[in-house]
Amino acid sequence: MHNGKRSHTPTPTEFTPPIRYATNRSGPVRWLLSHVGRYPLLLLFIFVGALGNAALAAAVPVFLGRAFDAMATSPPRTELLLPAALAILGAQVARSGLQFLRNFSAELVGQRLERDIRDELYASLLGKSMAFHNAQPVGDTMARATNDVREINLMFSPGLLLVVGSAAFLFMPIIVAYRYHPSLVTVPVAFLVSYVVALWRYLRELDPIAAQVRERFGQMNARLAEAIDGIEVVKGTAREEAEVDRFAGLARRFRDAFVQKGDVEARFLPLLFLGLAQGAGFLHALLLFRAGQVALGDVVAYVGLIQLFGFPTFVSLSAYSQVASGLAAARRILELMNRESHVDQNEAGHAAPMRGEIEFRNVSFAYEEGGEPVLTHISFKVHPGQTVAIVGQTGAGKTTLVKLVNRTYDVTAGQVLVDGVDVRDWNLAALREQISIIEQDIFLFSRTIAENIAFGKPDATMDEIVAAAKAAQAHEFIMAFPEGYQTVIGERGVTLSGGQRQRLALARAFLTDPAILILDDSTSAIDSATEDKIQRAIYAAARGRTTLLITHRLSQIRWADLIVVLRKGRIAAIGTHEELLRTSETYRRIFVTLGTPAGTGSGEQRGPEPCVPRA
Ligand code: GTP
Ligand code: MG
Repeated sequence: MHNGKRSHTPTPTEFTPPIRYATNRSGPVRWLLSHVGRYPLLLLFIFVGALGNAALAAAVPVFLGRAFDAMATSPPRTELLLPAALAILGAQVARSGLQFLRNFSAELVGQRLERDIRDELYASLLGKSMAFHNAQPVGDTMARATNDVREINLMFSPGLLLVVGSAAFLFMPIIVAYRYHPSLVTVPVAFLVSYVVALWRYLRELDPIAAQVRERFGQMNARLAEAIDGIEVVKGTAREEAEVDRFAGLARRFRDAFVQKGDVEARFLPLLFLGLAQGAGFLHALLLFRAGQVALGDVVAYVGLIQLFGFPTFVSLSAYSQVASGLAAARRILELMNRESHVDQNEAGHAAPMRGEIEFRNVSFAYEEGGEPVLTHISFKVHPGQTVAIVGQTGAGKTTLVKLVNRTYDVTAGQVLVDGVDVRDWNLAALREQISIIEQDIFLFSRTIAENIAFGKPDATMDEIVAAAKAAQAHEFIMAFPEGYQTVIGERGVTLSGGQRQRLALARAFLTDPAILILDDSTSAIDSATEDKIQRAIYAAARGRTTLLITHRLSQIRWADLIVVLRKGRIAAIGTHEELLRTSETYRRIFVTLGTPAGTGSGEQRGPEPCVPRA
């Protein structure tokens, strides 16, 4: 049996991306810190810029107060006015320099973080197993990879930038007011305390709503992606209106969450505190003035100092909710990256040139844990170089069966062995590089035809690509496009038919020259000229390697060395064509449904005789 003793990283992945630097994924804050920690100098600039900005802002009321005092003495000492004005001017020029430093650094950190996180997430997504991708809606993943990553950028700039920048403004009035009269700190301290308490409550209220906004955006996006992906079905069944309704429903939910967030923001108390502090502070200073405890200039300076609270109060409204959104986004991205993915790449596993022997040993498989088994007790063996036809009704488990060979999925029980080694003990990359699967629905990238063919071997020369296309009987139709091999698929309406796609996929396989070729050829009838081409291509591709062929084509079935008949996830019959005709009722029935008088081979309606005789 397969043993589970393998080095265990918290989240096993199918491939290790080139790590640019390690991040700590144990929590959203720690994770963000491990990202920004790479830019210590920029962080320092942000702090220095923010503190300096606040200190120099406080210089304005201080010098203004002095100017007032100079004027209030009799006779007025006007010669003091110019130095005060120049001091204010100098302070503000220096201040704008510091502001530039702060803003620029914060913006740079935000943008770099966005890029780094996007890279990290993308690499992580490519490493996830098929089981993960099947369960995770594409639209939601897209929302996280685009909008949530963007939220983190905004969280730093302007979010955190303003939080740090304005926090310094909270302390400045307390520090400076003390110089005028110790009791004058009362109002600023009271404001600070109530501000912190109100903010804390505000954030606690905002946090779940911010998370909800992000989540609903993801849901809305998932729906959108699905509807556009399935647009043909939507149109074909005239369901546009229903889809619009469903989408509108999700858009409404997203809006509701946003409105709720706005509601919390509107009830932000520090705005009220600011007004109270301004009134109370003025009153306090006037009382002290009347009692002769402070000078007139001190009153002016003090009132100016209280005004400094305006900045943290107003920015906190948006800045903190930006931070809350950023944190919610970070949590969502991290959750995606940390989510369990069951296949791991087994770097230390077996890696050797493959001979191409495949053995299924009592294999059972279910897509979901504890779910209905799709395959039950499958056992058979394929020798290197053999061609196996897998036949069976739709839903019998044919596609599922072949996906176990390259570990697209892992068996639930039993073992799949390649060259006598459990596939789970193979190095995953070595295993997959030597197995080529041509899927039922062939996916082509929106790149040139040449690039699509060379997908598994990017360094292939043009000559190699053309040779592969010729072997796959694809050269002719490719040359029929005005731009030949440089035709970009998906551009200017260039789409390919099922048969053409299949031949491109075969050309891919010729180029990578895998030891095992798996062909899920469940396409329905094609005109006989194309059929003939495809047959030739498949026959050529099968030569010299182990081939698993899922097919409904009688000609192909007949020339297979071994035929596996699947029925409801079990092997109903197994053997050569002649054997099965003699022994298996199921097999004979399949032949009848395919429209051929069993065994005679004549009167076949689905295509020509095998175009190339078996060797
Ligand atoms: P055709 O391609 O139609 O000829 O069928 P097939 O023999 O290839 O069947 P396949 O192996 O695709 O499916 C076998 C069973 O598994 C069916 O009952 C499917 O409903 C089920 N199945 C296939 N793919 C998935 C999947 O990704 N998740 C789950 N939960 N079930 C699946
Ligand atoms: Mg299938």
